[in-house]
Amino acid sequence: MLSRFISRPITRVSPLLLNATRNSSIISVHRDTKVDNQNIPFEFNSENLKRADEIIAKYPPQYKKGAVMPLLDLGQRQLGFTSISVMNYVAKLLDMPPMRVYEVATFYTMYNRKPMGKYNLQVCTTTPCQLCGSDGILHAIEDYLKIKPGQTTPDNLFTLQEVECLGACVNAPMIGINDDYYEDLTPEKTVDLLKKLQNGQEIKVGPVSGRVSCEPFSGPKVLKSKEPTDIRKFTRADL
Ligand code: FES
Repeated sequence: MLSRFISRPITRVSPLLLNATRNSSIISVHRDTKVDNQNIPFEFNSENLKRADEIIAKYPPQYKKGAVMPLLDLGQRQLGFTSISVMNYVAKLLDMPPMRVYEVATFYTMYNRKPMGKYNLQVCTTTPCQLCGSDGILHAIEDYLKIKPGQTTPDNLFTLQEVECLGACVNAPMIGINDDYYEDLTPEKTVDLLKKLQNGQEIKVGPVSGRVSCEPFSGPKVLKSKEPTDIRKFTRADL
């Protein structure tokens, strides 16, 4: 029975699955390149060194390796990506074997292991966003910028990534651009955002639908008062 099941030919594989296998993330395996090799020196600038000291001070000295994630993030923000030199520098700063740092940096997708465009477009294609049309968003970006997930535009303005749930499902479909979220998107509104960025214009963070936050489309149903709620109305007088 089992062997019959195993040997059954696969007649159809979802194109989305194929797409996810090939393109869902930027490769994190290290290969020496001109811009990413151990001979390129890296160290924190004075501001980030101060910030790093503050972060490390939050941990008991014997557990300072707990600071590895914020320090990698700091290094990535300074250089633009998490290079091998950033990882080695953080390992040295925290007295960690470099391999332990590589493991962290290659496990979490927020660490970009290759140079990124100015705008990191992270298109969420997890189920709630997919049900609300994220495939259309992704295709609109691909068509407009002529790049696929994992690629950067020739002008280094945009890098496209397909990512898992970014935690804003109630405003699906959405994308992250650098540290900010843009929600309730349509393919047309997504391209509008890209055009504004190309023209150096500011874009408004949050829902593009007119919603302020994640209230119902028909308007808020609760917490409508402009006055701050007096919490004492809802608690015991003796508390
Ligand atoms: S599924 Fe897209 S933000 Fe959660």
